Amino acid sequence: MRFGHFDDKRREYVINTPKTPYPWINYLGTQEFFSLISNTAGGYSFYKDARLRRITRFRYNDIPVDSNGRYFYINDGGEIWSPGFKPVQNKLDFYECRHGLGYTIITGRKNDIEAQVTFFVPINANCEIQRLKLKNVGSKNKKFNVYSFIEWCLWDANDDDRNFQRNFSTGEVEIEGSTLYHKTEYRERRNHFAFYHVNADIRGFDTDRDTFLGQFNGLNNPDAVTRNKSFNSVADGWSPIASHNVEVVLAAGEEKELIFILGYCENPADKKFMPDGSLNKAPAHELIERFNTTEKADKAFAELNDYWSSLLTQFHIDSPDDKLNRMVNIWNQYQCMVTFNMSRSASYFESGVGRGMGFRDSNQDLLGFVHQIPTRARERILDLAATQLEDGGAYHQYQPLTKKGNNAIGGNFSDDPLWLIISVAAYIKETGDFDILKENVPFDNNEKLAAPLFEHLRRSFYHVINNLGPHGLPLIGRADWNDCLNLNCFSTEPGESFQTTTNTEGKVAESVLVGGMFVYAGPDFVELCRRMGYNDEAKKAQQYIDKMEEAVLKYGYDGEWFLRAYDSFGKKVGSKECEEGKIFLEPQGMCVMAGIGVKTGEAKKALDSVKKYLDTKYGCVLLTPAYTKYSPALGEISSYPPGYKENAGIFCHINPWIMAAEATIGRGDRAFELYKKIAPAYIEDISEIHKLEPYVYSQMVAGKDAKLFGQAKNSWLTGTAAWNFVAISQFILGIKPDYDGLKIDPCIPSDMKEYTVTRHFRNADYVITVKNPNGVCKGVKEVTIDGKKAESNILPVFADGKKHTATVVLG
Ligand code: BGC
Repeated sequence: MRFGHFDDKRREYVINTPKTPYPWINYLGTQEFFSLISNTAGGYSFYKDARLRRITRFRYNDIPVDSNGRYFYINDGGEIWSPGFKPVQNKLDFYECRHGLGYTIITGRKNDIEAQVTFFVPINANCEIQRLKLKNVGSKNKKFNVYSFIEWCLWDANDDDRNFQRNFSTGEVEIEGSTLYHKTEYRERRNHFAFYHVNADIRGFDTDRDTFLGQFNGLNNPDAVTRNKSFNSVADGWSPIASHNVEVVLAAGEEKELIFILGYCENPADKKFMPDGSLNKAPAHELIERFNTTEKADKAFAELNDYWSSLLTQFHIDSPDDKLNRMVNIWNQYQCMVTFNMSRSASYFESGVGRGMGFRDSNQDLLGFVHQIPTRARERILDLAATQLEDGGAYHQYQPLTKKGNNAIGGNFSDDPLWLIISVAAYIKETGDFDILKENVPFDNNEKLAAPLFEHLRRSFYHVINNLGPHGLPLIGRADWNDCLNLNCFSTEPGESFQTTTNTEGKVAESVLVGGMFVYAGPDFVELCRRMGYNDEAKKAQQYIDKMEEAVLKYGYDGEWFLRAYDSFGKKVGSKECEEGKIFLEPQGMCVMAGIGVKTGEAKKALDSVKKYLDTKYGCVLLTPAYTKYSPALGEISSYPPGYKENAGIFCHINPWIMAAEATIGRGDRAFELYKKIAPAYIEDISEIHKLEPYVYSQMVAGKDAKLFGQAKNSWLTGTAAWNFVAISQFILGIKPDYDGLKIDPCIPSDMKEYTVTRHFRNADYVITVKNPNGVCKGVKEVTIDGKKAESNILPVFADGKKHTATVVLG
């Protein structure tokens, strides 16, 4: 069952009921000002950091679900409704929500009034624009009142949610014509404020929530709206809000537009106040001036669309498969931008206060984003590297506002360092910018400890080598990619967190996954050593890689698949000897991608075992059999009920590793089969089972052992986005940026006859047509470029701003 459809031409998903199985959301904003918006206009806005600069308030896991947003109310002669259905929830004559790239358009119609709101965050501006178009579609004149509503958050979302003894006394607002200002905390260290403006005269306003609502009322029936009269309340403490009241008169067929602007501003420290002590509103006036007419808003909206068009032309496929085109050209790349911006901080599953930018997460997100805006990827790499610790380890997370490593979470995730090598290599392959390796970057955000980025990669590499366990495999530390596999962590006391107590018998648990990852990432380190002229070091590094490969094959292979780990007692994890958790997905993907056992047969066997034991109709589960009881020796992984999350859920993030691994051994049919199992466009028809947005990937789909097999959770912010883009664009379609050119090495389903990819690469456009006359999966027979036969399947770097045409024949 579907709840909408794709409109590929407009690059939108069109939802035709407010009652989707869960709020289906979208993201507005591309740089600093961001908003989350659901299909009923729920959600919130923040500046840079969802925790520290939260602009509007949201109530996670409150009821009704999706509690709070930017809401409009229409009071049409006592008939009250909201264009986005919520919060009033009156039946509408028509409803539609179109989620597009960086904007959302919600339309509601009732009693001959059509209200359409376009929400977007303009490029290079710290505000959300809400264009409310009102049309009288009937034959009689209409006179009605429109009320806007947003609730301010007192900036630090974490504190806002709990420190009421203080916060109920701090709220301050100012009112200036049709602009309502939120200036809480402006008297102390803060230099920022927010405002909500409408470009029309208002009949009244409210800034005190409890006055606006009236006692015991909810947002569905605020006093101001039901009595059709704003109270002109001026908040003093408690909960400041902003609500305008505008009277609208429309003749039959007439249309009017109101432009609302929700903005964030900062003042220089010495210009916070006016001489009379009021807020210095100059930056707000400027921002309002930029967008306060239909013409200006039109222009800003067109700019946003152009921006997205230009980003998406960096990689574009034309194939006979509409769903593939839709995923590759629009939604997967869009999600990659969102994960790049948000890491794992703010979604409808991540509260914005828990996690900031993840070291592992953001390095991975970069893999799906780097071709879109390489300069921003560069900046991100330097930010991430600056949180690396001197020993090569890394803070697992940092807050985007401060860019400082989060001490509370610390480090000791054994895979973290290697992700930096992987992302830097991806960036250099995309851009050819080897100079980044010479950038001076602090360790631990301490300028005194700064060293060239290359040194950071070296420490990453040796962090693994300096932390090997009894089998010569990397020590797992607190965890590796799988946060929940806590093999050195004991928790014996009920109620104790899984991750705080350590095994006193010695932290010797080892990770086969990180071993595989070392072999996967290592060759890039070797290549970068060579490019830096460090040939001896390259040789030495290669020896370590070879040794690791041997160790993985010798101690990390279980006969038919790769083991997952050794626990802190030296017992195997993910082995046929285990009672539960006999086989894990991650090492099969990573080790094969690294090329381990490809020539000697272990790789193929491992992937056959994946198919045999881990595959389901909705994708591959992370392990099997699921753990049925909690085991302190395994940690959090065994705390989940069978079939959920890391305990045998279908972890969409790792499925593309298997696709890439299948492509590595040449099985294109299988790689694409797996791709289609989890790519949202292919499973739109089971939206009622899947439950979450059919236009983006979710982190997890409940596995075969779960009661709700097939139901997704944690949509949007997941490494799934980047890895699926890597799997489809590089491993399956085979367009791989490399140090000296664009390598073409497809591994496609045998019945895929032809496709064309337009790829912008280092200042030239490559139009690459892949032909498969003999129905093979892999093997480049012939390459021509600009009509001439090419020597190899690496298309050269032209960097001439021109278009170049390549034909690649498989066979
Ligand atoms: C985290 C990832 C982690 C994965 C598996 C996700 O929630 O964001 O960093 O690798 O879970 O545990």
